[in-house]
Amino acid sequence: MILVTGGAGFIGSNFVLDWIAGGHGPVVNLDKLTYAGNLENLAALQNDSRHIFVRGDIGDSELVGKLLKEHKPRAIVHFAAESHVDRSIHGPADFIETNINGTFKLLEEARAYWGGLPDVERAAFRFLHVSTDEVYGSLGSDDAPFTETTAYAPNSPYSASKAASDHLVRAYHHTYGMPVLTTNCSNNYGAFQFPEKLIPLMILNALNGKPLPVYGDGLNIRDWLHVGDHCTAIREVLKGGRLGETYNIGGWNEKTNLDVIHTVCAILDEQQPAANGQPYTSLITYVKDRPGHDRRYAINARKIERELGWKPQETFETGIRKTVRWYLDNAGWINNVTSGAYREWVDKQYG
Ligand code: NAD
Ligand code: TYD
Repeated sequence: MILVTGGAGFIGSNFVLDWIAGGHGPVVNLDKLTYAGNLENLAALQNDSRHIFVRGDIGDSELVGKLLKEHKPRAIVHFAAESHVDRSIHGPADFIETNINGTFKLLEEARAYWGGLPDVERAAFRFLHVSTDEVYGSLGSDDAPFTETTAYAPNSPYSASKAASDHLVRAYHHTYGMPVLTTNCSNNYGAFQFPEKLIPLMILNALNGKPLPVYGDGLNIRDWLHVGDHCTAIREVLKGGRLGETYNIGGWNEKTNLDVIHTVCAILDEQQPAANGQPYTSLITYVKDRPGHDRRYAINARKIERELGWKPQETFETGIRKTVRWYLDNAGWINNVTSGAYREWVDKQYG
């Protein structure tokens, strides 16, 4: 048994689905079901006794303590977070509450549980903290990619809150000897990603004939990793990662936002051409830049490759094709997530 937090979100639900499909064992999935959490992502597990879903907050110490006592997990894989940079600019409070205070409370419950385990289970226990490359800040065009020793320099309330949580996790290892692991991954894409993030937002807007909003000059660079590769990497770190270490995870796929948008448009032109005969790129619209917008992220993922033999399997070209196809084939999922809270967000962010 493992305890997953945030397993109804984008990466968490992909992780839970892969974990169970791979026969790695049962999962208790603790998720608050914020706007970003969606039980539909887990519909395939509806009648599967290996998946126990619990709606709740990682900051609810009583609930977390009870779940740990009852299910005796051998590991906690911690995905739960507020995850969208633009939302953190509009309202940082939720980010501080969940990403910092929530992680702190989860660590406290994990420490109490781990401390009370018999020796063998105690030695085998793991707390894996899922974090982001954004904690390292922004690179210039000639800078070397982030390594695990790059100094932290977070620039958004989101990345600052994730950096704070990384530091807490680190401190619980150094101070209390807790068996922790941290992963810092680049931008993910794939099935079940909430359409506030770049790739699904562009797919949905294009299909609806709406403008494709490009922040600033569109030349900001991100490294893109298919979510399935991220999930494999997390499993490898959980299995073989050295305690107290951090592992950078990336796809060796640096792209400008405009490159990404052009690729998405070209696949859509081929798979579902616009009714008016125009290429989807005609919808590209430059909008006001994001405040504090990081220019470039790039990951050096050699450590995880060297120590654990992990390398991404998907190239951007293969992964983005599968992703666009998934959104074309899942209109029902899209309709359900694009109501209510989603529309309010779009109005607030894009006027
Ligand atoms: P997401 O926003 O899609 O999902 C987050 C999930 O956490 C949701 O299901 C939400 O309901 C749940 N949640 C939020 N607050 C909670 C709370 N207080 N208690 C319990 N559950 C709560 O996010 P994601 O993109 O799947 O990201 C998952 C993790 O991976 C995050 O920690 C994020 O920082 C990290 N990460 C994301 C990316 C990316 O590109 N998306 C890249 C690197 C790292
Ligand atoms: P996003 O998916 O929000 O991820 P992050 O900010 O965590 O990297 O954004 C990816 C990039 O795309 C980022 O440089 C901001 C840019 N972007 C746009 O240009 N337009 C948009 O509407 C969105 C959501 C993002």
